[in-house]
Amino acid sequence: MTNSKNYILAIESSCDDTSAAILCNTKVLSNVVATQEIHKQYGGVVPELASRAHQQNIVPVVHQALAKANIDKKQLSAIAFTRGPGLMGSLLVGTSFAKSLALGLNIPLIEVNHMEAHILAHFIDDEKQTAPKFPFLAMTISGGHTQIVKVTDYFTMEVLGETLDDAVGEAFDKSAKLMGLPYPGGPLVDKYAQQGNPLAFDFPKPKVDGLNFSFSGLKTSILYFLQRETQKNPEFVSENINDICASVQYTILEILMEKLKIAVEQTGITQVAIGGGVAANSGIRKRLKEAEETLGWKTYIPKFEYCTDNAAMIGIVGYLKFMKGNFSNQSVAAKARYAIGSN
Ligand code: KG4
Ligand code: ZN
Repeated sequence: MTNSKNYILAIESSCDDTSAAILCNTKVLSNVVATQEIHKQYGGVVPELASRAHQQNIVPVVHQALAKANIDKKQLSAIAFTRGPGLMGSLLVGTSFAKSLALGLNIPLIEVNHMEAHILAHFIDDEKQTAPKFPFLAMTISGGHTQIVKVTDYFTMEVLGETLDDAVGEAFDKSAKLMGLPYPGGPLVDKYAQQGNPLAFDFPKPKVDGLNFSFSGLKTSILYFLQRETQKNPEFVSENINDICASVQYTILEILMEKLKIAVEQTGITQVAIGGGVAANSGIRKRLKEAEETLGWKTYIPKFEYCTDNAAMIGIVGYLKFMKGNFSNQSVAAKARYAIGSN
């Protein structure tokens, strides 16, 4: 039985952020994210450490989310959780927690696909964001994903293209690492790029058919380029950091925009929504604004806290499934590989 006010507790633990959110229907009452700082010293996410940190964080994070929303757990209508895709050890923590609490409270349990959640985050009711209209194209760009998806309605999605190797956020982070910048380097590349010349250095773009992406070749060409230049001048990176970052970012954005343009041409859909941590990049935001003026697209970027991994986006999918009575049973298990639209 649904009430006019349905309170959903959502849990996200697919990678290195432990997050819990409380939604009242489509509105977010709280969205708590504990980012695991431990990975910084290793220059990337260490799966074993991530699982352990999730186990430490999950109960305090859920308590905080309930307290911030001023909701008692007895008021909850359902519990939504990320079933996958993601790191198995990380997913197991959120999945087990959600199952146990749903069982204890005797309320419905709702599994959510993390990739669908990145897309449906646009439908969180927030004065700072507008929801795209169906059908639209969604490009999810983060440290773990790079996909272009055709979204016909809330639960009808088709992956048109995706990365064959590294995700775009990894391309930013690995390039940054080669320049000696700390992890995650994406925001720093963005910062330095704003002062640099995007055409100062030329990096090759991969030749990948259709709407798929590849970023591993770019990383290799940057490696060789930096090795060559630092042999001639050991101070090359520090003397040219702005121009290198601007050129790397320009190449990455060219790759993304080229594929988006093909997707728009192929589908005839001009509503373009992006999400994921890389959506914070000032360059991609500028390019999308330009596309609105020059190509007549309508573009959508969620609020930053709903772009990066967060439980509020799991909560909005949880609410949509709750209204349809689409519940999971207690035998549901985490899935590290979990394609959009599959079971
Ligand atoms: O969505 P997210 O928080 O976590 C993952 O699911 O990966 O995305 C993190 C990624 C990192 O690779 C980070 O470097 C990148 O997003 N990122 C950026 C910017 N802000 C975050 N990349 C480029 N420019 C930015 N401003
Ligand atoms: Zn994600």
